Order: sequence, then C-alpha cells, then structure tokens
Amino acid sequence: MANDKLWGGRFCAKTDEMTDDFNSSIRFDKRLYLEDIEGSLAHTRMLEKQGIISPVESKCIQDGLKKILTDIETGNVTFDVSCEDIHMNIEKLLTDLIGEAGKKLHSARSRNDQVALDTKMYVKKELLNIKKLLLVLEEVILNKAKENLDTVMSGFTHLQKAQPITFAHHICAYFEMFKRDISRLEDAYDRADTCPLGACALAGTTYNIDRYYTSELLGFKMPTLNTIDAVSDRDFVIETISCISFIMMHLSRFCEEIIIWCSQEYNYIKLDDSYSTGSSIMPQKKNPDIAELVRGKCGRVYGNLMGILTVMKGLPLAYNKDMQEDKELLFDSIDTVKMCLEIFTKMFQTSSVNKSVMLKSTKNGFLNATDVADYLVKKGLPFRDTHKIAGELVFYCIQNSKNLEDLELDEFKKYCELFENDIYDAISLENCVQNRKTTGAPSKEAMKPIIEIYEKYIKEKK
Ligand code: ARG
Repeated sequence: MANDKLWGGRFCAKTDEMTDDFNSSIRFDKRLYLEDIEGSLAHTRMLEKQGIISPVESKCIQDGLKKILTDIETGNVTFDVSCEDIHMNIEKLLTDLIGEAGKKLHSARSRNDQVALDTKMYVKKELLNIKKLLLVLEEVILNKAKENLDTVMSGFTHLQKAQPITFAHHICAYFEMFKRDISRLEDAYDRADTCPLGACALAGTTYNIDRYYTSELLGFKMPTLNTIDAVSDRDFVIETISCISFIMMHLSRFCEEIIIWCSQEYNYIKLDDSYSTGSSIMPQKKNPDIAELVRGKCGRVYGNLMGILTVMKGLPLAYNKDMQEDKELLFDSIDTVKMCLEIFTKMFQTSSVNKSVMLKSTKNGFLNATDVADYLVKKGLPFRDTHKIAGELVFYCIQNSKNLEDLELDEFKKYCELFENDIYDAISLENCVQNRKTTGAPSKEAMKPIIEIYEKYIKEKK
C-alpha cells in the first residue's frame, strides 16, 4: 500500500514526516487514554447488543482494550506519532493485539464523535476534581474565620482605610466567591452532561445503534440531540476554562491581598517559612513568591480562554482540525488551577494572623468617622449634614494630631450641640464593629448564623 495509515486507502504517497509531526496530537492527547478506552468499551457493548458485532468479537475487543489499558498504565506502551492521536493509537494497538476483530470497533463511529466524547468525559471528571479542591479551600477559610470572629481589622475601599471589620468577615467574602465558583462548575457540568457518541462524522449512521444505551453506560444524562452540534461543539471546553478563569481571578485577588498584608508596611499576616522563599542576594528577604505566581498564572489561564474563544469563532460546521487546538489550552488550564488551589490552600492554612497589628491599624485613619455621622443622624439630623460635621471634625483631628475618640466633649460640641457623653460608646472601635448586626455585616452576632450556613453548605457539598 502506498500509504499505510488507517485512512490510507485513497492516498498514493506516504505522509511526509513533518506532516505527521505537525498534524499529530498524541504528544498531549495521550492523557485521554482512559476516557478513550472507556468510550470504546461502551461502544463495543452497544454494537454487540444491537447485533452489529458477534458476542465473540465483542469479548475479544473488550479483553484487548482492557489489556491495552493495563499496558498503558504500567508504562508498557510507546505511542506512535505517525498514528496521529490517542484514538488511532489505541485502535492500532488493538488490531496489532487481536487482529481482524479489532478492525470492527470503528463501525458506527468516527474520531469526531470519539474526540468529543473523550474530552467531555475528561472535562466532567476534572470539573468534579476542581470542585473538591475548592471545597477544601472553603473549609480552611471557614476554620480561619471561626478563629477570627473577634479579630478587628481595617476594611478598605480604594486601598484607603474605610471602616472597621473583622478578619473573619473579610475572608468570608472569598468564601462567597468560591461558593459562586462551585455553582458555576456545577452548571458547566450539567451542560457538559450529554453524550456525543454515535454522532459519528457529523450525520449519524445507518447502523441501528442505541445511543441511549451508550450514553447511560458512560454515565451521561442523555445523548446529544443533534449530530452536527455533537461533533462541532466545544462550548464545554470554553465554559470549563471560563469557570477556571473565575477561580483564578478570585485566587489572584486573594493573593494580591496576601502580598500586601505580609509586606512590612502592613504586617497583618505572616506566611509560614515552608510557603515562602528567600532572595539570592538580600539575606533578610522572605518573599511571597507563591502568592505572586498564582497571581501571575491567572494571566496565563485568561490567555487560554482567549485562545479557545478565538479558535472557535470562525469555524463552519461541523468538525474542523482547528479544534484539536482546544486540548493544550484545556489541559493547561486544568493543571494550573488544580496546582494553584492546592498550594494556595496550604499557604493560607499555615499563615498566621497578627491580631494586635491589625487592631492597632484600626486606631488611626478615622475608621469611625461614619459612625460619628450616624450618631448625629440618630439624634435627628439629616445624614448629608452630619457627614459634613464629621468631616470637619476629621479635619480638626488631622490639624491637632488626634483621633476622633480622643476629643473632649467640648471639642465635639463646638461642631454640634447634639453631641453628648454617649458619643464615646457610639464610636469605640469595638462597638463600630459589633453594632453592625445586619445580615452579612461584620459583628459577631451577624457572622454566627452565616458561619452556620457555611458549615451546612460544606457538609452538603462534600
Ligand atoms: N486529534 C483530533 C482532535 O483532537 C481528533 C479528531 C480528528 N478527526 C478528524 N476527522 N481528523 O480534534
């Protein structure tokens, strides 16, 4: 034969070596070997059930596939670039192993539905893995929050001191973000849960196959309902990388804060030595490299998202080889987010909170200025007027190097007659936090029921 490829019948010349190299995806899609074999096993069982292959052939194919699986997992297989991808490599291994029967496996199937199936199965598995890692992180955040319900710290807007909060309150904001990420992963899983197997090249098949049977065998909710869409859809890849981008964005924001917090200027938290690094020239340095790298890797995942969106944007229906470019972007995003989640969780878990520094930092910066204004509102003045009075008091304090709570009652009264002795209680930092009792606010009283909701959430999801 002039061309000995599985598809070589209509070819007169051999494939150029460079074409093989350029065209092949085995280098990276070999990681889909398990999904490919599971898909083939289900396909074989269906072909037998429908009388398309004999029980003897079916057994022979299934045994062969299982043997190949063991061989791959024990490192006894060398993949061949000239067999292009994982699908044709496994098919070739199978025919080499069992002969004629192996050639029947590809009846009523195409690599187009095969690759869509393998990738979907892989995506579904990894969406669950990522969700598990997020839940571990959520648990770590929750435990730290429980230890820090009383840890008063400055809350910021524009990175300028704003109002006093607690460390628990602050990190539970991330709990909320990761909760949304989990729900996004669940949504993506749900939409990825339709089985493309049996769509074949694009137009289904004339064989009497049972797509519901293979879909069920492979753990899908149902088969895809349009064979063209089944082989040309990569929304599930885009959605997965998009979900991962959200997670990376949230991790990156958290990392940014950690980097700021462990700077000498802030000194809010201390990273454990095992999750920090030194400098090759400056002996005194302890750097938050891990947090910086996670922040950096966020850019790389966004790049992958832009990459796959751009690959897909101009493709006519149905399958086009461009779509082979989805895999490295997908795999890299999955590897990256898993690695980042694992190390971030450990880094955060082992970090320690400098409670006294946090508390001290709330003592300057007039974090209770809003409470001065609110105090006068409660005495009957409109907020816009009280905002002005509090602002003038802040200006007076800056001029005289004082804090609001250090002013004498006389000094308060110069700005408004309505100030009484109870102003000191109203603006003590402790009360500024603890009087914020509305749902979702920082006081311990408000946080406790939220913590209970979070505990229940983790228990249910695990
Ligand atoms: N390696 C290909 C991919 O990743 C598999 C599908 C190839 N199909 C085809 N008709 N060439 O997309």
